[in-house]
Amino acid sequence: MGNLLILFTASLCLFLFFIMNSQGIRGPPYEFIHGNNKEAAQMLMEASTKPMALTHDIFPRVMPHVYSWINKYVKTYLSWNGIRAQLLITDPELVKEKWKSKEGKEMEVFQEFRLLTSEVISRTAFGSSYLEGEKIFDINIYKAKIPISDKIAKMIHDSVMKIVKKRDDKVVTGEADNFGRDFLGLLVNVYHEADEKNSHSIQDLVDECKTFYFSGQETVNSLLAWATVLLAIHSDWQDKARAEVIEVFDTQNSDSEGMAKLNTITMIINETLRLYPPVNGVIRKVGKEVRLGKLVLPTHLEVDMRIIALHHDPDLWGDDVNLFKPERFAEGIAKATKYNAAAFMPFGLGPRSCVGMSFAITEAKIALSMILQCYTVIVSPTYVHAPAQRLTLKPQHGIQLLFHSLNYDI
Ligand SMILES: *[C@@H]1O[C@H](CO)[C@@H](O)[C@H](O)[C@H]1NC(C)=O
Repeated sequence: MGNLLILFTASLCLFLFFIMNSQGIRGPPYEFIHGNNKEAAQMLMEASTKPMALTHDIFPRVMPHVYSWINKYVKTYLSWNGIRAQLLITDPELVKEKWKSKEGKEMEVFQEFRLLTSEVISRTAFGSSYLEGEKIFDINIYKAKIPISDKIAKMIHDSVMKIVKKRDDKVVTGEADNFGRDFLGLLVNVYHEADEKNSHSIQDLVDECKTFYFSGQETVNSLLAWATVLLAIHSDWQDKARAEVIEVFDTQNSDSEGMAKLNTITMIINETLRLYPPVNGVIRKVGKEVRLGKLVLPTHLEVDMRIIALHHDPDLWGDDVNLFKPERFAEGIAKATKYNAAAFMPFGLGPRSCVGMSFAITEAKIALSMILQCYTVIVSPTYVHAPAQRLTLKPQHGIQLLFHSLNYDI
């Protein structure tokens, strides 16, 4: 049986290789079972131990293997994630389809934003405070090796079930007449759906909660952290952004009407998402042979759209690709991307693009506005610039910033 499986796998690898090779697609050579993973892991390890200057040229550090293969094989290449064949495409034509005053004190903002974003997603989606949800989600499962251990899986399962049971109990005791209108409420409703076929299993419910929590928290965490450090580095843009926030909201709380007027902040957020995309690529599996541009993609092939590669491509953005220039987005996204819709895709593209996009951007706008209303932010001398891919784009050594309170009466 084992031998048969190896034989089958080997034939499939060969088959995919020949099909792509015949269409002129090259790439790093396949190694038995490991594919290119050993080489990639080696390059990643080397890159992550090398210090880097405070520049935004982060692509070679975050994805050194992709960076080197793109250069070597000229943008489109076939690589092997273990035995899975992945076609990397960076041609956009192909891709289309969280406070207290800590005056002058250093703060590690990545953790602060982790608490903020956790609280926000817990309340909006699960109607529970972060503290309640802590056990579910804060066991750093996503840092843990995947697959996660049975023990952790059971803990998550039990915690989700506890929150679900609370909702159930409220309906049973008559305290509430429905399961709630938030994300969890909708899931619980579906779970209780009388029709067997439509109801999903408890495992589905737990999985949905994990996915939703992860997408809603980790990504905004990453966006806020990098946006704040960029504002700290580029004080001219920090001043411009603050002037805008004060003009729109003065020192009051933000409201949804004002949100739409925050043009500068939106440009800054987009430029942050371009240079430091929280999710640096998406992989789709070819379900049925398809034609993509001039290429014919066979079933089982995986297509790898490396967002970070697109966002750092000088051919698409110009020679100033690695500079922080929010003004690129001044006349909207189409101009910024020179009408290459797929050149900028922090949330993916098409029908499967991120459903949480406006949630994420709104959360980021509110948080940044509040910070700008209260503080000037500068980079601490202890900060070491080290972006690294840890599921999302994270600062390897945290983000240490200094906060100086502004003299507004708030
Ligand atoms: C920022 O990017 C989003 C898509 O990610 C887009 O909808 C929006 O129009 C962009 N805004 C600007 C000012 O570029």
